[in-house]
Amino acid sequence: MKLALSFLTIATLTCAARAQDPDFKKDIAPILEASCLKCHCEAKAKGKLRMDTRELAMKGGKDTKLIVAGKPDESALIKVLLLAPAEDEAMPPEGKAPRPDAAQIELLKKWVAAGAVWPDGMTLKSSEAPK
Ligand code: HEC
Repeated sequence: MKLALSFLTIATLTCAARAQDPDFKKDIAPILEASCLKCHCEAKAKGKLRMDTRELAMKGGKDTKLIVAGKPDESALIKVLLLAPAEDEAMPPEGKAPRPDAAQIELLKKWVAAGAVWPDGMTLKSSEAPK
């Protein structure tokens, strides 16, 4: 009986851990659409970087790799968010779009760490009209 119980506990823990992986559509896309897409899309590809499709996001920009699946520390997506807002390479550029807060950065990190799953065919659009 004791053995059966601990198996149950392990199974429950495993499911709980999986359930916490951020969901691209619900958790990740809204952050990118609010903070990044207005400058990194078809109309404006600053730094030659687009994030509207998985393929383009994975390709990265002129100098950086935006997403290295499984490695948040090597992903420019995370690095630029951890810079002080006044630094040149910090994104979004100061005052130009909402900066993701600490909880959102944590979600992005978890998403990259969990393999950066981006469902096929899902295209992102800025949630703000381009200026
Ligand atoms: C208001 C416009 C704007 C927004 C919003 C913005 N960026 Fe940028 N981004 C730029 C510009 C301009 C550059 C080019 C800088 C340069 O080449 O010196 C750039 C460059 C970059 C680069 C370097 C690309 C390369 O390889 O050279 C990364 C990475 C990046 N942005 C990530 C982001 C992320 C992640 C977000 C959202 C959190 C974001 N940006 C939001 C304007 C923006």
